[in-house]
Amino acid sequence: MIDNFRWWQSGVLYQIYPRSFQDSDGDGVGDLRGIIARLPYLRELGVDALWLSPVFPSPMADFGYDISDYTGIDPLFGAMADFDALVAAAHAQGLKVILDLVPNHTSDRHPWFIESRSSRNNPKRDWYIWRDGQGSGPPNNWLSEFGGSAWQFDEASGQYYYHAFLRSQPDLNWRNPDVREAMHEVMRFWLRRGVDGFRVDVMWHLIKDAQFRDDPPNPDFMAGMPPYQELSHIHSTDRPEVQDIVAGLRRVMDEFEDRVLIGEIYLPPEKLTAYYGKNLDGAQLPFNFSLIGTPWTAQSVGDLIDRYEKVLPQGAWPNWVLGNHDRMRLASRIGEDQARLAAMLLLTLRGTPTLYYGDEIGMTQVTIPPDRVRDPWEKNLPGRGLGRDGCRTPMQWDQSRHAGFTNGEPWLPLGDDFARRNVAAETADKTSMLNLYRALLDLRRKRPELAVGSYRRILQDGDLLVYQREHQGRGLIVALNFGSHIIPLPKDLNGQILLSNFMDRLNCPVPIDFTLRGAEGVVILPDSPG
Ligand code: NOJ
Repeated sequence: MIDNFRWWQSGVLYQIYPRSFQDSDGDGVGDLRGIIARLPYLRELGVDALWLSPVFPSPMADFGYDISDYTGIDPLFGAMADFDALVAAAHAQGLKVILDLVPNHTSDRHPWFIESRSSRNNPKRDWYIWRDGQGSGPPNNWLSEFGGSAWQFDEASGQYYYHAFLRSQPDLNWRNPDVREAMHEVMRFWLRRGVDGFRVDVMWHLIKDAQFRDDPPNPDFMAGMPPYQELSHIHSTDRPEVQDIVAGLRRVMDEFEDRVLIGEIYLPPEKLTAYYGKNLDGAQLPFNFSLIGTPWTAQSVGDLIDRYEKVLPQGAWPNWVLGNHDRMRLASRIGEDQARLAAMLLLTLRGTPTLYYGDEIGMTQVTIPPDRVRDPWEKNLPGRGLGRDGCRTPMQWDQSRHAGFTNGEPWLPLGDDFARRNVAAETADKTSMLNLYRALLDLRRKRPELAVGSYRRILQDGDLLVYQREHQGRGLIVALNFGSHIIPLPKDLNGQILLSNFMDRLNCPVPIDFTLRGAEGVVILPDSPG
């Protein structure tokens, strides 16, 4: 820990998609024992905490985001004893463990929903969102993120239930205090087992308009966008009342020591900040995804950083994300060279970075043949390029058969570049992406100004973005070239280059007439910190 900063402020988070990280039993699906075996890799990489996408019992219609038992482990991933062993092993190696909490919806096979659905007067009826239709149609125009109406008619009881995602993922009714209490108990169950935090799935969806008003059309909708974007979801998401629910989740976290509450929230910075809560009694880290959607130019990235820094409430801690299991792989989105620049940006910005497994070796979006598609979103809306399987393919460990991921048949195809793009090969190559990540993480650990220092933009000119990080009188300069051509650096930038993302200028003086190559970024220790 640095000064008074908490581990989740100075540390780096690493997202594991458990199905795809490491298989230990040959069924082609990753599991908890597999993760345990790879902990030394993560420790050596230099991250501080693992966030696991859901590992709870689930019919796997949405690969674990459809939970049928909140306090168990799906046999596909192992047993509760394996989970306890994972927490113990991670902690022994100095790594924290963060679980995915999916409180917005359950699986339709969850006993709560089975009861709720069984009759209109079942005591659990009100645990979900049931409404009468309007005329011959659904209660209102709300849409499912995965396509079509968000309302599903239930023949037996003659009412509709609401599902923001798949029809097999009914939304819980967070206006019901019993639902809140049940979910708080779920949290306590895992927190008592030693879990260090939760990433809360779709936090901004948790509560919906009490009057069920129609969402208005989205004026920015354009052909080709996912159909969900046709509406502005001002009534079905991001309601002001959600802050009270988030504060309730936080109070549960605060019953335990030093835990972190992270929220998955796809909103612009100006709206995101509400999720820190009044007086910071909300999420400690409302995920900031804005780098994922911002045009990859020095100007728009520089402006975004300033805009985000400006709206952060007093005392709120920033965070940055470049990829996850729902978005196209970074290296495919912006290209391999720029992905190396992005690594330097992410790990030198003020705020907690989250890395997505495989990005540290530059894994790319894998093209999935139609007969191997697994993602329900892609299956609902085929051919729209919405599929998420391509960013969820097995981790590439080595060049052996199935990349060292499994002895069986992997549940998704491997990237066809795995023989050269893998952990073993990149470990041996001094200038690899993996060794760049290791060097950046190492530098971040050694230089507190990178982890917790202040941020100040020094210059943005064309493709060049230069900023300073400073902590207790020690400062570093980061200069990034977002273009593909050589750019000269300002003449007054003297000092030592600590690291270049090309991995070839390490600890050497800044030369006279210093230029950055295309997509090059450097961290400089200036002669004078000012
Ligand atoms: C967000 C998760 O990240 C995504 O994978 C999932 O499909 C939806 N929430 C529904 O739970």
